[in-house]
Amino acid sequence: MASLERQLGPKGFTRDPLAMEPWLSDWRGRVHGKAAALLSPANVDEVQAIVQLAAEARVAIVPQGGNSSMVAGATPSAAGDALLLSLRRMNAIRSLSPEDNVAIAEAGVILSDLHEAAARIGRRFPLSLGAKGTARIGGLISTNAGGTQVLRFGTMRSLVVGIEAVLPSGERFDGLSALRKDNRGYDLRQLLVGAEGTLGVVTAASLRLVPAVGARAVAWVGLAGPPAALTLLRRLEAATGESIESFEAMPANALAAVLRNIPGTRAPLAGTHEWNILVEATAPVGAPDPVDALTGLLGAAQEDELIEDAVVAASEAQAEALWKLRESIAEAERVDGPAAKHDVSVPVSAVPDFLVEARAAVEKRFAGSRVLAFGHLGDGNIHFNVQPPVGADGAAWLESEGAAVNAFVHDFVGVRGGSLSAEHGIGQLKLAEFARTAGPVRLHALQAIKRALDPLGIMNPGKLVPPPA
Ligand code: MLT
Ligand code: ZN
Repeated sequence: MASLERQLGPKGFTRDPLAMEPWLSDWRGRVHGKAAALLSPANVDEVQAIVQLAAEARVAIVPQGGNSSMVAGATPSAAGDALLLSLRRMNAIRSLSPEDNVAIAEAGVILSDLHEAAARIGRRFPLSLGAKGTARIGGLISTNAGGTQVLRFGTMRSLVVGIEAVLPSGERFDGLSALRKDNRGYDLRQLLVGAEGTLGVVTAASLRLVPAVGARAVAWVGLAGPPAALTLLRRLEAATGESIESFEAMPANALAAVLRNIPGTRAPLAGTHEWNILVEATAPVGAPDPVDALTGLLGAAQEDELIEDAVVAASEAQAEALWKLRESIAEAERVDGPAAKHDVSVPVSAVPDFLVEARAAVEKRFAGSRVLAFGHLGDGNIHFNVQPPVGADGAAWLESEGAAVNAFVHDFVGVRGGSLSAEHGIGQLKLAEFARTAGPVRLHALQAIKRALDPLGIMNPGKLVPPPA
């Protein structure tokens, strides 16, 4: 420890409880850990030195970026023997190439900073989410983050062109290429994407850029329910091709939570609607503004009584205000208190029935509980959250009922061919449920990969990989 302290200096090493405290709990404040020290390396050589020493001493490392994990994937255990490895100081954008359409960003780069840097060269990085001002590239890669543009551009996995990482042995994997085709067998880059820091520390990545948006149209739609929403999505896609890139669904209770808890928000439509959809369509520079097409299509949908009402943002400020309503749901829920949260996916075609049936089943089985389900309807990912009965002590309810609610929801998803983690990962909060439901073939393969790359088990133990029985 003393040699690490010497090597990293005061900016890179602390054991001060006050300095460590903000990084020892997860974003929702459900899990509280301890660490032997907080290490904040400035470059990949320092990361390598840390991992080499940790391997020699058999000390665990917990990598952390913006600490916005939804599954406590970057929170150390309460044992206090692990080193918390913050990548926040490694926040350089090393290069931006409009020719290759690639940015090379270090793990600590904040997502919104990458958005701005790409815009400056007439490009964009097409992944966005509510936590864009906090979440960092290393964490987004390590969780294979999704967000609100997956419909068109896929998850982080489809945007990572190359990776630089320090493996659990302390060796450096120099995979920062800009190659779009590279068929040399097992893809270490893709193994590291979504590995939640269990196979090494991602220190930088080459990331795919796409042309900047010339114009965008953002609309808020009120309608009766998910079946109408899905019909609308397919209609819009058929009429506009690839231009629809977000299609987000919120029930009336999610919108109400935002309006109640987030200052400066207001209802976008005059009446209340059972369901609300936020649609974004974009057009490249020089192409016709998508506002006219979207306005016409929504007008026709209203005439056909497919939707109840709609408004298309008349300015960037209005578009931002609509997005704020969607992106504030997680924060609004946090203000409301504890809930059993789920991040599930089912085939897109199954979403409407799933929402109706799962809600009825959960509210019947857990008396008084209230479902708040919203999310990325366009890609089948629903945040199916279950709130405690009105007036109940939320924390006590979660303690007594949470595990049963989780199992009930996950089984409901499982029999429909779905997944219990669509975009948040497994971390520690989903680990038991993942172990229960994954099945032996998936589990054995996962454990074998973990053993092969991290035989000492020092990388982010207790996350993602259920221990062998
Ligand atoms: C979202 O889609 O808003 C995020 O994934 C956060 C959440 O699940 O609450
Ligand atoms: Zn989400």
